[in-house]
Amino acid sequence: MKGVPLPTSDRKQNPLNRDWWPDNPAIYDIKESYLYNAEKGPFFEGVVGSRQRPEQSEWHDFIGHKIASRIGIPAGPLLNSKWIGLAADLGYDVLCYKTIRSSENPGHPVPNMVYIECDEQLIPGQLPDQLTIQKNPPLQIGKVAVTNSFGMPSRSSEYLAQDIPKAMDLLHPGQVMIVSVVGTPDGNDFDSFVQDFMAVTRQAKDYGASIIEANFSCPNVTTGEGELHTNPEIVYSLTKSLVSVAGDIPLIIKVGVFEDPQVMEETFISAAKGGARAICGINTISMNVVDTNGRPALGVNRLRSGVCGYPIRHAALEFTKDAHRINQKHNLDLTLMTTGGALLPEHLSEFIDAGADVAMTATGMMWDPYIAHGYHARKGGLDA
Ligand SMILES: Cc1cc2nc3c(=O)[nH]c(=O)nc-3n(C[C@H](O)[C@H](O)[C@H](O)COP(=O)(O)O)c2cc1C
Repeated sequence: MKGVPLPTSDRKQNPLNRDWWPDNPAIYDIKESYLYNAEKGPFFEGVVGSRQRPEQSEWHDFIGHKIASRIGIPAGPLLNSKWIGLAADLGYDVLCYKTIRSSENPGHPVPNMVYIECDEQLIPGQLPDQLTIQKNPPLQIGKVAVTNSFGMPSRSSEYLAQDIPKAMDLLHPGQVMIVSVVGTPDGNDFDSFVQDFMAVTRQAKDYGASIIEANFSCPNVTTGEGELHTNPEIVYSLTKSLVSVAGDIPLIIKVGVFEDPQVMEETFISAAKGGARAICGINTISMNVVDTNGRPALGVNRLRSGVCGYPIRHAALEFTKDAHRINQKHNLDLTLMTTGGALLPEHLSEFIDAGADVAMTATGMMWDPYIAHGYHARKGGLDA
């Protein structure tokens, strides 16, 4: 794919002195299925480049592990060991293996990801009724706005049992891998959901995971209202159950945005009380997305999908500031991981300045795999 080069001001930090997007395609092909991308991707033919690594004495503590820098990739784009290996080579140090289920699941058919028209920053609680898709890709990396709906596909236990250890072998010193897990309910039965969540946590541990993330930003199967992370009671009981399975392995809770600051505070307190070591947010912001004729963009069975990239950076920054304040106010000692709309290296620094312990990018790295290079170059290889 060829496009108009970016203004150099946007990319002056790139140590390889080359722009990835839009001269090169995204390393994930959004026209193709998750499985196609898993098997044929990542679509990266660039130079990996060298990296100046800080001395070990300057590495950071991260829930019982040491990391060379505080930047990483959250659950989603790293589909298997090939993707983890590339991200590790490119200098992302906290890598999350895409959310897995207790058994194989095909997820939703394509389209799973489309560009959207959205020049505004979305504010939780004040969201527009709907967003419209955008046929033409943006010409600036800083404006990449997309929506996704995958239905959390998962490979079989047999596949994961061999691929997760393989992915961990590809890490460099000063890097960690997290395995993201989610429970699959049997209908609306909450007990079956908890049991399955515990089962997949046990499986992740058996596959060799040294850190596990539980995806709580998924629908609340008990009442159907909101998402799990917005119910502090469930957050407490489920975290406690999962920690009882994870044992010594640190558990991270993944959350979405909160419209109610009080609920956010209670959720954080509940997660800490339940034994979580870290919180990662934000997940995508769920919205109605329509095509240019006003019809559901991803089909009538999927009216809503998750917005990520450019439109959610403000929400991610606000989340970080609030989370940092809550953590300090209640001495929760939770490690804070932020993702949401970071498309340039300086956006990762902004997350850290706002109080994040780890700053991450999902959409960003798919459209510009060199964000980590840019970040490390800005820091002169050091990560203060
Ligand atoms: C392609 C893609 C797949 C994703 N899949 C998952 C997932 O399986 N589990 C999860 O917890 N979050 C998933 N996410 C959400 C991201 O982890 C992240 O919370 C969100 O995209 C916001 O960050 P971003 O703006 O940097 O993309 C996915 C995101 C993308 C872009």
